[in-house]
Amino acid sequence: MNLFDNMLKGEESLFLDLNVLDYDYLPHIIKYRENQQQYIAECIKPLLQNKNGKNLLITGTPGIGKTAATKFVLRELEEKGLSDNMFVIFINCWKKDTTHKVVLEICDKLKYRFTMGKHTDDLIKDIIKLLNKKPVVFVFDEIDKLQDMQILYVLLEDIYKKTVILITNSNYFLANLDNRIRSRLMPEILDFKSYNLAETNGILKQRAEYAFAKNVFDENALKLISNKTFEKKDIRLGLHLLRESGDIAENESSKVITENHCKKAIEKINGISIEDIKENKEIILNLIKENSGKSCNELHEIYSKNGGTQSYRTFSRKVSDFVDQGIISRKELHSGAGKTSIIEYKTKTLDEFD
Ligand SMILES: Nc1ncnc2c1ncn2[C@@H]1O[C@H](COP(=O)(O)OP(=O)(O)OP(=O)(O)O)[C@@H](O)[C@H]1O
Ligand SMILES: [Mg+2]
Repeated sequence: MNLFDNMLKGEESLFLDLNVLDYDYLPHIIKYRENQQQYIAECIKPLLQNKNGKNLLITGTPGIGKTAATKFVLRELEEKGLSDNMFVIFINCWKKDTTHKVVLEICDKLKYRFTMGKHTDDLIKDIIKLLNKKPVVFVFDEIDKLQDMQILYVLLEDIYKKTVILITNSNYFLANLDNRIRSRLMPEILDFKSYNLAETNGILKQRAEYAFAKNVFDENALKLISNKTFEKKDIRLGLHLLRESGDIAENESSKVITENHCKKAIEKINGISIEDIKENKEIILNLIKENSGKSCNELHEIYSKNGGTQSYRTFSRKVSDFVDQGIISRKELHSGAGKTSIIEYKTKTLDEFD
């Protein structure tokens, strides 16, 4: 055997589809959450019979499929063509955290364009008229991040046929909610429990099958990642470790991802909080926004100096993803020394890209 037999060539990659490891990627099936999906669907069903829907509060710790299961139900609704006769409005309150931003988002979803210079209260009147034309499913994800609950009160009070689904990590959300809103909401409660070890392994195995080339991820290596993910109870951590292990293996020009690569990936995350991992995408985008016009190398240097932990390879892949999504642009500049890629942020806001 030659010393270089096991080495990846320049253009070879262990990854088949890196997008599959994004946290907001929605898999074809969301295993182990069938009962919860059924429950969510039951709350919406009355709307299909032109009755008022049931409201629902979904609770549970981070990274256990609350958003994914809910989005899955909405996708089914759309795929069955059932959403044609209703409005389906999904709002992430981490991104839209005031009544005004939520109202603008609803206007946008309703394709209502006359928003310039209008006061929030006037816009609310406009959207209520529009929304009452069909039954509405509202999903407010990360509802605890919403700074004021005025919009909830208004929607509960003034929309006739609706299901309001609220998703939160906070166990105290309902207890802290204004009495007038709570008594109008009267939600069913659906509490998501974290996954057991076998389920964690099943989910990560499925993701790895889509994300990596065939037979590159060693079974025992995957188990290591599943154990760590099960310990931390957040699937996002597992997705991060899958990607990181793949990167480490590629950096070593290995054709397979071994237990050793996974151990190194796990070592790297010790000391980083899951919140840091979750917000990585936003962090990288903000960094590009603040340093528009710099090269990818320079951006990675700034990112690392500010405590960023992802390798240059992962970082530049993320940048390429953003280019593909049209969020940023890459220009080639020719100088005496050769070519440099300049990364520029486009004028649209971050919030337009969820
Ligand atoms: N049963 C599952 N099958 C496949 N992927 C899953 C499953 N459960 C969770 N995931 C994946 O794990 C990641 C985290 O899930 P999700 O975003 O739904 O978490 P969450 O419970 O909403 O967390 P948070 O409270 O932090 O928002 C996502 O990438 C999601 O696709
Ligand atoms: Mg979520």
